Amino acid sequence: MASLFSKTITLQKELKISDEEFTQLRDFIYEQSGIYVADNRKYLLENRLANRLKALNLKSYGEYFYFLRYDPGRKQEMNRLFEVVTTNETSFYRNPPQLDVFRDKVLSEVIREQRDKGRKSLRIWSAGCSTGEEPYTLAIILHEVLGPEIKTWDIKIAANDISEAVLASARRGVYSEYALRTTPKEIIARYFTNEDGRYKINPEVKQLVTYGQINLSDRAQLKRVERSQVVFCRNVIIYFDDDMKRKVIGAFYDNLTPGGFLLIGHSESLHNISRAFKPVHHPGAIVYRKES
Ligand SMILES: C[S@@+](CC[C@H](N)C(=O)[O-])C[C@H]1O[C@@H](n2cnc3c(N)ncnc32)[C@H](O)[C@@H]1O
Repeated sequence: MASLFSKTITLQKELKISDEEFTQLRDFIYEQSGIYVADNRKYLLENRLANRLKALNLKSYGEYFYFLRYDPGRKQEMNRLFEVVTTNETSFYRNPPQLDVFRDKVLSEVIREQRDKGRKSLRIWSAGCSTGEEPYTLAIILHEVLGPEIKTWDIKIAANDISEAVLASARRGVYSEYALRTTPKEIIARYFTNEDGRYKINPEVKQLVTYGQINLSDRAQLKRVERSQVVFCRNVIIYFDDDMKRKVIGAFYDNLTPGGFLLIGHSESLHNISRAFKPVHHPGAIVYRKES
């Protein structure tokens, strides 16, 4: 009994992350994703990665770091690491006042402009889309605003995330009631099919959204995204340091067409990050506009 107990203690000891290993891993994560793991998240990282070390049969975080750099399976492991360090929390109709501003001020203007130009084309980018609730919400709003006329529009919502796992879930498009907790009942009835208590997004919504893996810290990948009239990047830059925020916001600016709009999370701000956008204040939300 005593030996079993001491073995457990030894194992736990081996899985402790040293300050040096933490710094090494933290710098690596930052370099690869732009996500900055603060000192106070050291033990969280250690806890969450302990299972990965066990699964890979590694004895220390130093070995894990080596694996991430040189093992043939490193790409797959990087995806797992991203899943560990990212927060994927999201829901349908998140931040309703901001979505009202999107519908009534942003979308109405973009639609009017397109009609004036004799075009009917809409490009929206949901950057850091997690399991799909945000881009599908935007697609539902487009259906609500355009009604049957939507069939005559050329619409594409590009939805990206660093994590393959959340993208796989987004592509499945099946949700729990909890994901729909702030969604109006009539919207659920219109755009979802209830299958044994799970809610499946209907095809007319799904077909507006195209998913792809993109790392926002990769400039080349960002440049390949089709130009958009609206960029949504909510609750994502909060995990980045100022330098990375500047790069990402700069990339959104370059991506937007003149007069385009950027919407960020309600607890995020462009203060000290970018002066390129014009902040437009509406009750319930600030919208950042690229001047035309
Ligand atoms: C908290 S969720 C926000 C989801 C949604 N935008 C919302 O507001 O409900 C943040 C998402 O950003 C993604 N993310 C974090 N760093 C990223 C990066 N460097 N590149 C792409 N996506 C990233 C995470 O994987 C996660 O799914």
